[in-house]
Amino acid sequence: MTNFNRSRKITIIGGRGRMGQFFTQQLSTAGHQVSTLGNQDWDRASQLLGEAELVIVSVPIERTVAVIERAAKYLLPTTALADITSIKAQPVQAMLANHAGAVMGLHPMFGPSVKSFAGQKVVICSGRNDEIFQWLLDFIADRGGELISCTPEEHDRIMVTIQATRHFSRFCCGAFLSAENTDIDRSLLMSTPSYRQEIEIVNRLFAQNPALCVDIMLATEERCEAIARLAQTYSRLAELILQKDRSALIREFEIAQSFLTQENLASTKQKEYAIAATQL
Ligand SMILES: NC(=O)c1ccc[n+]([C@@H]2O[C@H](COP(=O)([O-])OP(=O)(O)OC[C@H]3O[C@@H](n4cnc5c(N)ncnc54)[C@H](OP(=O)(O)O)[C@@H]3O)[C@@H](O)[C@H]2O)c1
Repeated sequence: MTNFNRSRKITIIGGRGRMGQFFTQQLSTAGHQVSTLGNQDWDRASQLLGEAELVIVSVPIERTVAVIERAAKYLLPTTALADITSIKAQPVQAMLANHAGAVMGLHPMFGPSVKSFAGQKVVICSGRNDEIFQWLLDFIADRGGELISCTPEEHDRIMVTIQATRHFSRFCCGAFLSAENTDIDRSLLMSTPSYRQEIEIVNRLFAQNPALCVDIMLATEERCEAIARLAQTYSRLAELILQKDRSALIREFEIAQSFLTQENLASTKQKEYAIAATQL
């Protein structure tokens, strides 16, 4: 394990944002000298970036590549450059293309409301000279974080399922509840555990910054296409509902049921979750 106790000069671009504050707090509490470069601080970029040992990019998705290109001009070849964007292929590619030094893509799989890395997953995408980041990875792991390695491409593919289509589904659910003017409080009074769970999950989405939610759905063409396929699935099944086609709906249900039970609920934890979820 590397010495993650040595104090390092770190600059977080977007350090005043929600995730930036989380990383600032975690790293400065551990004794690192953490500076922030925000939107209005570019006149101090040569000091803030040129002297840093590690620079972490934590800006909105659609600005990430432009910020990487702008920041790279100030970096020493010895500076390690990482980002925490919710997409990985474009930022990692931009960091590799614009910075000759160590590069790594990170994606914290949690929001800024968590208090620490304990029990949280962080996806890591190798870029260049991974060993330079070992102290940071050890730091996260030492605080109870779980590190999962993958390529940026695999990350982005899997996030279509984990984030983009889930966000869309919850977005639609919230939009529907709002359009129907649903009395949520009253409905919760007589609700099932799974309904309460769903409302909580939908509420969590709407507690986020709207731009982040929308950017996550729009981030890649692959995401937009997958969301369109999900919407087509809703429409196809809704059509069967309108036609009162009971046998077709049962057939659709059984196809999905067989896929989910046989293929994708392999781990014990997932099985337990599925069993709990059947308690409607
Ligand atoms: N929020 C989450 O749940 C979450 C989870 C995992 C990963 N992420 C990723 O984390 C990143 C940041 O998300 P966030 O939710 O923390 O966003 P945020 O709260 O909107 O913060 C973004 C920060 O970026 C700064 N910024 C914007 N444009 C800039 C520029 N041109 N130069 C320098 N700084 C600039 C802003 O600085 P000023 O304050 O100076 O305007 C702001 O503080 C995103 O890439 C997102 O995908 C977010």
